[in-house]
Amino acid sequence: MAIPFIDLGQQRQRIGSAIESAVLKVINHGAYIMGPEVKTFEADMNVFAGSKHCLSCANGTDAIELILLGLGIGKGDAVFVPTFTFVATAEVVPMTGAEPVFVDIDARTYNIDVAKLDATIEAVKTEGRLKPAAIIAVDLFGQPADYPALSKIAQKHGLPLISDAAQGFGGTIDGRQSLEWCVATATSFYPAKPLGCYGDGGAVVTNDDALMDRMISYRVHGGATAADVAEHKFEHEAKYLNVRIGMNSRLDTIQAAVLVEKLRIFGEEIDMRQAVAARYAEKLAGKVVSVPFVKDGYVSTWAQYTIEHENRDGLQAHLRNAGIPTAVYYPIPLHRQPGYAAFNAGGCDLSVSEQKAASVISLPFSPYLDEATQDHIVAAIAAFNG
Ligand SMILES: Cc1ncc(COP(=O)(O)O)c(C=O)c1O
Repeated sequence: MAIPFIDLGQQRQRIGSAIESAVLKVINHGAYIMGPEVKTFEADMNVFAGSKHCLSCANGTDAIELILLGLGIGKGDAVFVPTFTFVATAEVVPMTGAEPVFVDIDARTYNIDVAKLDATIEAVKTEGRLKPAAIIAVDLFGQPADYPALSKIAQKHGLPLISDAAQGFGGTIDGRQSLEWCVATATSFYPAKPLGCYGDGGAVVTNDDALMDRMISYRVHGGATAADVAEHKFEHEAKYLNVRIGMNSRLDTIQAAVLVEKLRIFGEEIDMRQAVAARYAEKLAGKVVSVPFVKDGYVSTWAQYTIEHENRDGLQAHLRNAGIPTAVYYPIPLHRQPGYAAFNAGGCDLSVSEQKAASVISLPFSPYLDEATQDHIVAAIAAFNG
């Protein structure tokens, strides 16, 4: 049987019938847009994340953009992002009129380098063209960024710290999730994510009431908040008073129904992921350039299990021939992408990201990966002598 890169089938076998009943219920009650399951899911997310508010939306990309819009970020602003991440982290920044400023990553965790971030913020201030406005940290491959250190830098410069937890939602530092240190955390429910639905979906969690009000407005066409209605003395449905230019980014009720069921077992699945990752690390030790490094007290959600090899492309071809799928996240850091070449404020040394782009390779991973399959993958890697 072919080895899947991310196996969603085992989970489906486990909770498939509960999901089918939940979806059928939506099909029958007919509230396909903003139905009751959306509210239930948002409430469940608040319990899981320990947050005051959850705003579900159409995907993880919109989730980050909604935070930026809600914070009032726009033209002339600099938003600091790691260059070694999925493009969505940076893509939303020019959508608001602001500019992404690329920062290098830490060589061991793949997350934004705190010292280089501080220096790059100073450099942007000295350049004087852009106004530092926000930091977006990414939990790459599932490991939380160093939020305790990042929040000190954010406070020093008076900047909001945003968590792009599309890969790391549910990950913890000493038992605490990223929202502990951030104004808002965004995540994605893309099917292959640790908490994925059966299509596109995303969410923001926050404890900030005013930010939540503005994000609710931006999520559906910039409709009026209670404060807008009072200010404009508007007497019709609030959604027909458009105070700001928004978007349409609702989570489908069917996807919310799927997520309610999946969130029930998500905590347990994060624990199962630890066991699979620990077994990979044990079996792979000495066979590749490096296995993932997780900081003390950090719990990764293992969105990816990423190793490094000096002949990465050779290893990938060898594994492909052995019927083992792999992926390269990411072959080109964002500052090298043609669409992003113009964004060069701050002048950060981005050499670590460039080295990693040439050596990383992610292996098949799922909380349900069985030992025999895992042993087969490890044996194939051990047999590579390129
Ligand atoms: C780090 C990161 N940020 C943002 C996103 C965007 O999420 P989505 O695909 O749901 O828009 C993803 C995943 O695709 C991601 O990995």
